[in-house]
Amino acid sequence: MSIKYYAKISGTGMYVPDKVLTNFDLEKIVDTTDEWIKTRTGMSERHLASEDQAASDLAYEASLKAIESARIRAKDIDMIIVATISGDYAFPSTACILQQKLGLKGFPAFDVSAGCTGWVYAANIAKQFIENGIAKHILVIGVEILTKITNWKDRGTCVLFGDGAGATVISRAKERDISRFIDSELAADGTQHELLIQKAGGSRLPATKETVKENLHTVYMEGNKIFKNAVRSMYNACEIVLKRNQLDVHSIDWLITHQANLRIIQALGKKLKINENKVIINIEKYANTSSATIPMALDEAIRSKKIRHGDIVLLASFGAGLTSGSLLIRI
Ligand code: ACO
Repeated sequence: MSIKYYAKISGTGMYVPDKVLTNFDLEKIVDTTDEWIKTRTGMSERHLASEDQAASDLAYEASLKAIESARIRAKDIDMIIVATISGDYAFPSTACILQQKLGLKGFPAFDVSAGCTGWVYAANIAKQFIENGIAKHILVIGVEILTKITNWKDRGTCVLFGDGAGATVISRAKERDISRFIDSELAADGTQHELLIQKAGGSRLPATKETVKENLHTVYMEGNKIFKNAVRSMYNACEIVLKRNQLDVHSIDWLITHQANLRIIQALGKKLKINENKVIINIEKYANTSSATIPMALDEAIRSKKIRHGDIVLLASFGAGLTSGSLLIRI
């Protein structure tokens, strides 16, 4: 008889760079106001990486905290998965660079590209490797330095993003553990990939003087179309896992969604009919850190003892691809 293993989140950590850019600072860069940004997005400030910081540097800091909180040693890790769309290089993967920084080698390390849904995708992959018995402790990170691929002349995008890293250790649960991943759901709609895209720098449109001049290496986004898709796709992903587990929304202790826009978070909460006090929000401090928003919010909520051992948490995200997904976890 094959043994059934379960996966759980055993540790979390986060890191944001020191430099803070407020809405008032942005007023000096583009034609915008603190009032517009706050009312349209819920954001007040965001953190910016310094010139010499790359994604692996942020990921390293967050990872040390996650490893410490999981009460394991770095050498106990047997896989690293980094979710990012702004890694150190196009290749090699940021996961391999992080492995070196942690003084480790030998085991698999790779990146996952799913935009803001990246950490949810990566956590889901880690869950499979734990459940099939191949790995015991997997370091799963969402890290982004989108401010280095931002067009600072485009007020429609440059006010939205911040830099940061959220790290988690996903481990094999002991038999008596109540903490575990309960279920997950992933989806993608590639027909809409052009709504959110970095047009140049890849094999479709390699870097030239012209592509740089036209700012084609920066984030292009049709925010309005994505907004509508975001609420619908996250709602679907949440509904599927709730129904499959015969759970009603009242059984959920906390909802953590991707922090892209306060109005999206509130619209989803309303559609799911979840009590607004159960919705974790930190967008005002960090803005949209893409794949890092969910593990960062999870870490803050666990460290502040808002989320406690045994709580059931529903996580949902959406992003470039267009990708979406949900995770149902007992902490
Ligand atoms: N300051 C002032 N005015 C602005 C700004 C700004 N920073 N940005 C846009 N405007 C103006 C527009 O020009 C427009 O003016 P007009 O009516 O005169 O044409 C007006 O505000 C309304 O613009 P909209 O784009 O319709 O504004 P909207 O309410 O949709 O908010 C936003 C824009 C915040 C981008 C919203 O659409 C959104 O959050 N979309 C989802 C973004 C997202 O979640 N992306 C996915 C994740 S990112 C990732 O995966 C990497």
